[in-house]
Amino acid sequence: MKAVGKASGKIILMGEHAAVYGQPAIALPFSAVQIQATVTDQGQALSVSCDFYDGLVHQMPKIWESLKHAIRFSLYRIGAPSDPAIHVQIDSTIPAERGMGSSAAVAVAVARALFAFYQKDLSNQELWDIVQSSEKIAHGNPSGIDAATTSGKQPVFFIKGQVIEPLNLHLDAYLVVGDSGKMGHTLEAVSDVATLYQDQQDARLWIKELGDLTRQAKKYLASGQVQALGQVMNQAHLLLQKLGVSDEKLDYLVDVAHVQGALGAKLTGGGRGGCMIALAANQHQAEKIAQALEKSGACQTWIQYLGE
Ligand code: MEV
Repeated sequence: MKAVGKASGKIILMGEHAAVYGQPAIALPFSAVQIQATVTDQGQALSVSCDFYDGLVHQMPKIWESLKHAIRFSLYRIGAPSDPAIHVQIDSTIPAERGMGSSAAVAVAVARALFAFYQKDLSNQELWDIVQSSEKIAHGNPSGIDAATTSGKQPVFFIKGQVIEPLNLHLDAYLVVGDSGKMGHTLEAVSDVATLYQDQQDARLWIKELGDLTRQAKKYLASGQVQALGQVMNQAHLLLQKLGVSDEKLDYLVDVAHVQGALGAKLTGGGRGGCMIALAANQHQAEKIAQALEKSGACQTWIQYLGE
């Protein structure tokens, strides 16, 4: 017996961190990077293999607790035995801890594969519950934007606790994604922003400003105003810097993108490592930016057309 579950990575265009405080965010599934979980009835006990671990689920190191939880919680919701003799194989091209939603995506793929293996329907609510509870372990206080985007096929305008609004992108522009090569620290960044938010009125204003910029970005996306969209991305990066979630390498790569004529550039995701994005007016410019980013230390780049 064999069953497969899939999920894609995600890119947050606008609104990371502010999303945790009920401000809107805009994110897109990023199908250039994907994850697949395959469940088989091979093996003597519940086991898992992926790039970083190969062994029994109950012996997984603590740092992979969120994955372990996604497996165990899915089995519980399915009503399956808690330690069945099955094997979960995970194949991923989503770089781990780079702000591309790898922790949510792995939970989505695992839940889908396990429900398919036991021939149980997986409702959206059930998937949401499993991914969010696993994300609480990975991120501390997840807004749900990663769960919403990695499980879906469409860009979304997202406000925590509210209906998720699908967006149709018809923007004649390109998004360049640059991986700084440094592991991000989302859990730590989310928790440090929470401390700032509690202690400093300025931080609360920055979060609100980020929300306002995201609302503007939504308008610019709808009306095809690429220049204006680039500007709000730039402003968002400055606010994320103030919140302390950027780092030297991300700032450097953002500068490199500007020198190559990017219309806007910012970090994406949890920050403190991970990825940045740049908006390019056309494919030629996107390629120039991607090349310059790689020359300047980005370990990988991707280009995504925003027109469909
Ligand atoms: C992480 O991809 C996005 C954050 O805004 C956290 C969250 O919204 O759950 C940093």
